[in-house]
Amino acid sequence: MLRTLRTTALLRAQCKNYAATASYASIPQPQTSPDVLYTGLFVNNEWHKSKSGKTFGTINPTTEQTIAEVQSAGKEDVDFAVKAARQAFKLGSPWRRMDASDRGRLLYRLADLMERDQVYLASLETLDNGKPYSMSYNVDLPTAIKNLRYFAGWADKTHGKTIPMDGDFFTYTRHEPVGVCGQIIPWNFPILMMAWKLGPALATGNTIVLKPAEQTSLTALYIAQLVKEAGFPEGVVNVLPGMGETGAFLANHQDVDKVAFTGSTDVGKLIQLASGNTNLKRVTLELGGKSPNIILADTDLDYAVESAHFGLFFNMGQCCCAGSRTFVEDKIYDEFVERSAERAKKRSVGNPFELTTEQGPQVNQEQMDKILGLIKTGQDQGAKIVAGGKRPQGLPGYFVEPTVFADVQDNMTIAREEIFGPVQQLIRFKKLDEVIERANNSDYGLAAGIFTKDLDKANYLVNGLRAGTVWVNTYNALAAQAPFGGYKMSGHGRENGEYALSNYTEVKSVIIKVPQKNS
Ligand code: NAI
Ligand code: MG
Repeated sequence: MLRTLRTTALLRAQCKNYAATASYASIPQPQTSPDVLYTGLFVNNEWHKSKSGKTFGTINPTTEQTIAEVQSAGKEDVDFAVKAARQAFKLGSPWRRMDASDRGRLLYRLADLMERDQVYLASLETLDNGKPYSMSYNVDLPTAIKNLRYFAGWADKTHGKTIPMDGDFFTYTRHEPVGVCGQIIPWNFPILMMAWKLGPALATGNTIVLKPAEQTSLTALYIAQLVKEAGFPEGVVNVLPGMGETGAFLANHQDVDKVAFTGSTDVGKLIQLASGNTNLKRVTLELGGKSPNIILADTDLDYAVESAHFGLFFNMGQCCCAGSRTFVEDKIYDEFVERSAERAKKRSVGNPFELTTEQGPQVNQEQMDKILGLIKTGQDQGAKIVAGGKRPQGLPGYFVEPTVFADVQDNMTIAREEIFGPVQQLIRFKKLDEVIERANNSDYGLAAGIFTKDLDKANYLVNGLRAGTVWVNTYNALAAQAPFGGYKMSGHGRENGEYALSNYTEVKSVIIKVPQKNS
């Protein structure tokens, strides 16, 4: 009982910024060894082996042990899945003939099935990705489920306009699906990123070939089976596990009409190039970030320290919108550094299946090594470590200590490159105009945070910051209704909200001559 109460209080404290989380009244215990049921390619609502016979191992980052071998889709498999998606998209197919409201019902059903299996899916996510079960159960799953329900509601509510065109015409627009959509997703929020991609594409009547990240294929494959159980016609959703090259085959495919990608900026560039080199397929990109989080001296210090901690350390720092440049006003800088270091030292790191764990391992060795390398660069360039900085002693797995850097200068590598790990940069500033310029001096523009009690200052900063989302007195508040996406090299297009629908629709103008006299 005491343990449950403590857990509940901890979660409430961690997640008070998070808009979309469910109630924390109770969390069911996880399945610590969930069965792995699906490891194949999902095409036409059936399971297949890869034509080449190739597989790859998926690893539990907490133990470094292989969980399962997964089929690796090659070029022929991509062709096969794209054909299935094209067939399902043909005029007269069950999917194209389906009432829009029934497309919505299928999405609602998929959401209900995910809710039915929430403990299992959250457990499998924690096994494969390493994120704390309390987060996969309380954040990833409810947010993904709500996302599907939100877009289910849009299925029969997105429509065109009638337009008073000059001349004797009746003119209207139709919002038609784009066609076969390739969707390439990352490993940091595997279930949530899948929901963000499926929801708007299916609500608007597209067909899909989705490639999960090779580090975390298992939950996407289980959800594929739920797609079938929900009753989607064959070929509407196809899921191809595979390495980066599988994604490249999709991006270069002549018969794919659109690619939606979330991941690194480098791969985002390749995807846009692939479009230009092939059929100019539509491309939307959600890429990296180096988001500023600006703390003014008038703020509630306890709240701002906790929020900046959450804004960076949530999900082991593996968030594209992580507040990884925390700009702190000169007057409170030293105290902020001290309190942030104290908070980071208290962060509970360990077995992600323990309900009290705040931080699990990084997703894989490559990510851990990249983070440790950047920590070293930070030290070499003169920033000062005030908490963490190493791998924790005595733990297997790809863990990195919660790390806080003080005395960070704008030109240091740790203030410019995406670290994607539990490493907080505390940077000093004095004036609002100065901090706007420095915050915007980045290739990225995904998100930004502001902590102040002064409405005028908040509005001045909101107006000046070049970022797709600006949070004021909160951080990481994401929900299905609010659009999300980047300025500059953080990508283009917006996911979530009504805006996401336009990524998946073509607008057709229909212009009909209206006779002006009855002859
Ligand atoms: P990545 O961009 O290589 O992987 C993301 C997805 O793209 C995966 O499904 C991968 O298989 C696929 N992919 C890889 N190469 C491809 C290609 N040539 N064509 C098409 N698809 C391809 O990211 P990675 O290597 O896992 O992580 C590297 C860095 O990227 C991270 O350290 C982090 O800084 C950033 N990143 C950002 C994410 C975000 O949410 N914006 C998510 C994941 C990584
Ligand atoms: Mg990569």
